[in-house]
Formats: sequence, structure tokens, C-alpha cells
Amino acid sequence: MDGINLLDKKELINNDKNHLWHPFTQMKEWDQSEPLVIVEGQGNYLIDIDGKRYLDGVSSLWADIHGHGRTEINEAITDQLQKISHSTLLGLTHPNAVVLAQKLSQIAPENLKWVFYSESGSTAVEIAIKMAFQYWQNLGKIKKTGFICLEEGYHGDTIGAVSVGGIELFHNIYSPLLFKSYKAPSPYLYCKINKIPLDNGAEFCADEVKKLLEKHHEKIAALILEPLIQGAGGMLPFPPGYLNKVWQYCRKYDVLLIADEVAVGFGHTGTMFACEKENVKPDILCLGKGLTGGYLPLAVTLASDKIFNAFWSDYDELNSFFHGHTFTGNPLACAAAIASLDIFKKDQTLENLPAKINTLKEGLESLSALDFVGDVRQCGLMAGVEVFEDKNKQSPFPLKRRTGHNICLDVRKHGLILRNLGDVIVFMPPLTVTIDEIVHMIESVEKSIYKICK
Ligand SMILES: Cc1ncc(COP(=O)(O)O)c(C=O)c1O
Repeated sequence: MDGINLLDKKELINNDKNHLWHPFTQMKEWDQSEPLVIVEGQGNYLIDIDGKRYLDGVSSLWADIHGHGRTEINEAITDQLQKISHSTLLGLTHPNAVVLAQKLSQIAPENLKWVFYSESGSTAVEIAIKMAFQYWQNLGKIKKTGFICLEEGYHGDTIGAVSVGGIELFHNIYSPLLFKSYKAPSPYLYCKINKIPLDNGAEFCADEVKKLLEKHHEKIAALILEPLIQGAGGMLPFPPGYLNKVWQYCRKYDVLLIADEVAVGFGHTGTMFACEKENVKPDILCLGKGLTGGYLPLAVTLASDKIFNAFWSDYDELNSFFHGHTFTGNPLACAAAIASLDIFKKDQTLENLPAKINTLKEGLESLSALDFVGDVRQCGLMAGVEVFEDKNKQSPFPLKRRTGHNICLDVRKHGLILRNLGDVIVFMPPLTVTIDEIVHMIESVEKSIYKICK
């Protein structure tokens, strides 16, 4: 690559290992590894420092929905750079923040009109939690301070988001720091444990939420969930109809619904937003990742009139939402997001998804026949393939074997980047992925599963 020779590569890796603390990484293991240095992106491909190309099978952590290096997004950012890179939304406004807010309110579930900006999925969730909490305080229902969430749920890594998270491996150690939340079972696992077919599990699982609401609703501000599929928990889809039932129960018991679409939003499930599939209108919606096409850090928390109006008063009543970050609504990031939304129309992105989703489905069916594959799960273009040491007994590989991790390292030899969640191999390609590329992903994973699991 330009200006980087082999010596530079060694030095770069050396400096990385001496200074850079990587997220979600055991650094001892990293130190012993041969890191892949990505220097460029072209369409659906990442290119490493040696010029080797890899299909970006997890869309750069579920964000890069239209592929890398899209001219439309690059130009929108560079045009904005000529004007101004940053100006605050505290006490001022700017055109990109206004235009994007208007566009989002037009495409979001119809009741969501108000857009509050931040920079990451975690902060979008943090804001949703504070908004829901203060909503009830402002209305004088001061006992409604609690939250219901789902086991295996993931909403980010900040303390509020972890408090409503349900992944023991990530969250347990921080428990003394967290506020208490009420946890309903993860619907997928609850169906599995109780041997209820997923297709018939909606009522059965939503009943558990209903029991919590019946008992605690007077103390509950909101229920938060990832609509249709729990992502970081291991790609665990909901029984069809569950989301809508939970929404109905929230309405019945006067509890707000926060839909965290940070992962599932912007087409990954086949529709622009996952809530659309079950005609659910949440009170608060969190979006991030794909919002800017995955180009810059930007997130939003959308709220309905009902929420917004509870904050509307004379200043001295102190009902304002006292929250805001330095880079809230950054103009460059908003420009990228506007361009990304335009691409959906131009490329007919959503219209092109059904054929891709179907090819992924067929590929997963073929993988499910393999010796070590004990479960395959899919929602739109999101999928998980879970490997077990003994498929029939569904007994896991020992943690030390790092099976999922090693499968993902091995698929790199086939020119593919994937990332595992434990022993679940995750597929979440860009929405621009082609049918041939999906077939390539499936074939590569098949080869690597055989090699690593034997
Ligand atoms: C559903 C969900 N919510 C929130 C987050 C946190 O987003 P971020 O990593 O941008 O803080 C994630 C990240 O994976 C997510 O999947």
C-alpha cells in the first residue's frame, strides 16, 4: 500500500502491541496473535496492509450497510468539511441536524417525531433510560423508576445500558455498580428449554413479561428490548408475534416501550425498522450503527409527542431534559446519515433484500446438516450458526478451545472476515452483499467448521 512497506508493518504491529488496548479483547491472546491490519475499504471488501481482500461478513461491526467508500457518503462529508466540521446544538442549530431529524421522523414508526442526537448506540440507550425515567418524574408518578429487560439482552457498555443488559459474561462483574432491573426470560432460550416450537412461543414467552408487569407495573418506567432478534446475546430470534404482544402488555400496564434498534435498524431484518414487521409503535426508539452508513459515530433516540410533552414547561419548573454531549448532532456525521438515507432510495436497498435473505436461508439449511452445527438462526440478513462438541447432546466445546474464535480466524484464509459470539458464528453482511458473496460466506464457513471442530 502507499507509503507502507514491510518494515513499517512490523513496526506498526509492534507499536499496536505496546500501546493499543483493544475492545472486548484478552490482550494476552492478542499479543500472541498476528493482527490483521486493515488499510482500505472498497465496496463489500476490506483490504489489508499486504493488499489482500476480505469480504466484510459482519459489515464492520454491523454498521457498514452500503459498503465501504461510497462516493455519495464521502462527498457529503467532504462538502460539509468545507463549511464547518463541528458546531454545538446547545443553544444553536445547523441545517444538517434539522434535515436529518425531519427525514428520520418521516421514516420512523409514525408516532416518533422528536429526535435527540448522541454518538453511539450505548449513549442512545443511556438517553432513552433517562428520558423514560424523567418522563414519569415530570408527570408526578415518582414511584415509576424501574426497568424491565430481557435475559441475553445487550444495549451497550455504559453503566445504564449494562444495568438493562442480560449477558452474564459481559455484565456480571459490574453488578455492584448497576441499578437493579427486572429480567424476563430470553424468548428464544425459554422456548428451547421448555421445548416449545418457536413459531408457537409468542404467548408463552410474553406471559412471563405480563407476570412481571402485573406485579411491578406501579414501579416500572419502561421495558427495553431489541426488536425481533437479540443480537449480541447470540443471534436469538423472537417467536413471531412476541414483540407485538409485549407492546400490548406495556400499553395495558402503562409502561413505556423502548425499542433498541441500534443493531436491527436500517434494513438488517429485511424492513427499514424491525418494529414495522409487527406494527409496533414504541414510545422511544434507539438507532445507531448503520445510521451514517457506518461511516461516522452518530446515534439518535427518537421520542413520541407523549414523551416530549412531559418535558414542556416554563424553565423554572425545571422539567427540561438536562442531557447533551459535546458532539451531539455533529454536522459531518449528520451529512453522512442524510446521504446514507438517500442511498436506500437510489439503490432500492430494501427491495433487493428478499432474494439475498432467501439465499442466506438456503445456505444456513445446508450448514445445519453438518456434524458440529447444533443450531442455525436467522432474521433477515442477520444469522448465527452455533457449533457444539456433541451436536446431538448440544454439549459445548470447552471454553479453552476457543472454537468460534478459531473458526473466524480460519475463514480469513478464504478471504472472509467474520466475528463470533462465543461458539456462535455471526453473519451480518452489508445490505449490498451479492448472492455470490453469500454463497462464498457459507462455503468458507463450512470448510472452516470441519477443519477447526474435528
Ligand atoms: C442492540 C444494541 N444496542 C446498543 C449497542 C451499543 O452500541 P455502541 O457499540 O455503538 O455503543 C449495540 C452494539 O452492538 C447493540 O447491538
